[in-house]
Amino acid sequence: MAYIEWKDDLATGISVIDSQHKRIIHYINQLTDALRLNDNILTGEVLINLIDYTLSHFAFEESLMEEAHYHAANIHRQTHDAFRNKITDYQKRHEKGEQVTDELFQLLNIWLMNHIAEDDSSYVPAVRENIPGINTNQKQGWIKSKISEFFK
Ligand SMILES: [Fe+2]
Repeated sequence: MAYIEWKDDLATGISVIDSQHKRIIHYINQLTDALRLNDNILTGEVLINLIDYTLSHFAFEESLMEEAHYHAANIHRQTHDAFRNKITDYQKRHEKGEQVTDELFQLLNIWLMNHIAEDDSSYVPAVRENIPGINTNQKQGWIKSKISEFFK
């Protein structure tokens, strides 16, 4: 499995979102390493971090879309819901003792990366238009308070 590299076509141009997406890619690459090393303990730890971070990121994105009055925020949220449901299913199967790491890795690697590359670009115009200071100091207070709300 090859590492995922950050490419400019993944960029939304919204710096706070791009840095969160880079962090997700970092976790996916750590998972690749853990699977390659066949290290179950490390794999479990990375998976927990990756899932936890991704779910916080989704909550952050949803609140950004709401702040931007993005018209298709509900559809985007439903896409996140589908992902959240899949993750919960995998967690339940894992608790029952099933080996789900490879499937879960595929989901994170393929679905999540497609979501970043395709779906996330859709809310960018609304964010740019309705939150014009998003990349400047002007919105740092709002960003900080949302980050402390969602990223524990
Ligand atoms: Fe998203």
